[in-house]
Amino acid sequence: MAAAVNIVEVGPRDGLQNEKEIVSVGTKVTLIERLASAGARSVEAGAFVSPKWIPQMAATDEVMAAIRRKPGVSYPVLTPNLKGYEGARAAKADTVAVFGAASEAFSRKNINCSVAESIERFKPVFEAAKAEGVRVRGYVSCVLGCPYEGRIPVRNVVRIAKALYDLGAYEISLGDTIGVGTPRETKAILSAVAGEVPVAKLAGHYHDTYGQALANIWASLEGGVATFDSSVSGLGGCPYAKGASGNVATEDVVYSLHQSGLATGIDLDALIETSLWISEKLGRRPQSKVTLARMPKA
Ligand code: HMG
Ligand code: MG
Repeated sequence: MAAAVNIVEVGPRDGLQNEKEIVSVGTKVTLIERLASAGARSVEAGAFVSPKWIPQMAATDEVMAAIRRKPGVSYPVLTPNLKGYEGARAAKADTVAVFGAASEAFSRKNINCSVAESIERFKPVFEAAKAEGVRVRGYVSCVLGCPYEGRIPVRNVVRIAKALYDLGAYEISLGDTIGVGTPRETKAILSAVAGEVPVAKLAGHYHDTYGQALANIWASLEGGVATFDSSVSGLGGCPYAKGASGNVATEDVVYSLHQSGLATGIDLDALIETSLWISEKLGRRPQSKVTLARMPKA
C-alpha cells in the first residue's frame, strides 16, 4: 500500500456544478485558493461545457483568470470536446479532463452522444493536448452502477478505461457516479481494469450516496490505487444523476488517512475551516462527519 496518497480536490467543480443558485466568481476563486493553501496539489477548478447544460460552470474562464496559481498545484478543468479544450487553453489550463461513461444511457444524458461518439469527440482533444504539452485526465462514469441502466457489465468499464488510456490519458478516474458500490465490487472492478491499465494510473472517484465511499477508498488502497478524488465538505453531485450525493468529503478522507499514517500533504484544520466557510456561504450543514465532529458547538 502507498505511504502517500494524492488527493484530487473536485469541490469547486463536482461540488458546485449542481448548485441551483449561481455561486459568484469571487466565492469560487476564494474556495480554490483556500483549498490550494490548505495543501491540495490538484484542485479541479471548473468545466468548459455548454452553459445551457450546466449554467453553474459558465464563468469558468473568469475563475481561471482570477485565481492566483500556487506553484506546484494543478488546476484541471473538464473539456467534453474540442470547443471546451479551446476554452480551457484560452484560460491557460495546463491540465484538462475528458469524461466518458461505461453506460450508454448516461453518456447520452450527460454529454448527448453515444460512448463510441464520445471517444471520437475526445480524439481531437488528445491530439491538440499532445501537441501543446497539456495533460489529459480521463473520467469513466457509472463504473459501479448507472442511474438509468442499473448494473454495468465490467467489460464495458474496462473497454472505456482502456480506450481513454490508449488515447493518452495520464490517469483514469473511475467514477461511482451514484455512490452505490461496495468494497468487494470496487475491488473486482479495479482488478479487471488493472488488467488493461496500470494500477498506478488509476484513481477512485466515489460519490457517497450510500455511505460506502470511504470503505471503497480503503479497498482501493489495498488494491494498489493511490489517487482519490474528493470534495470539500462532501459538496456536490451530478445534474444527470438525480438523487446522487456529493463525493466523499475530503476532510473524512484526510482524517482517515492521516490517522492511519498515510500522508496527503493537506492540513486538516485548514481544510475544516474551508469546509465551514463554504458551507456557510451556501447556507447548509457540512456533509463531512469529521467537520461536524470538530465544529464549534453552539
Ligand atoms: P451538444 O448540444 O450535443 O453539443 O452538447 P453541440 O456540439 O451540438 O453544440 C450545441 C451548442 O452547445 C452550441 O451552441 C455549441 O456552441 C455549444 P449554440 O449554437 O446552441 O449556441 N457547445 C459548447 N459550449 C461551451 N462549451 C463547450 C461546448 N460544446 C458545445 N464545450 C455537450 C454536448 C458535451 C457540450 C453538452 O452535452 C454538455 O455541455 N454537457 C455537460 C455535461 C456535464 O458537464 N456534466 C457534469 C460533469 S460530468 C460528472 O459530473 C461526472 C464526473 O464527476 C465523474 C463521476 O462522478 O462519474 C466527472
Ligand atoms: Mg462526480
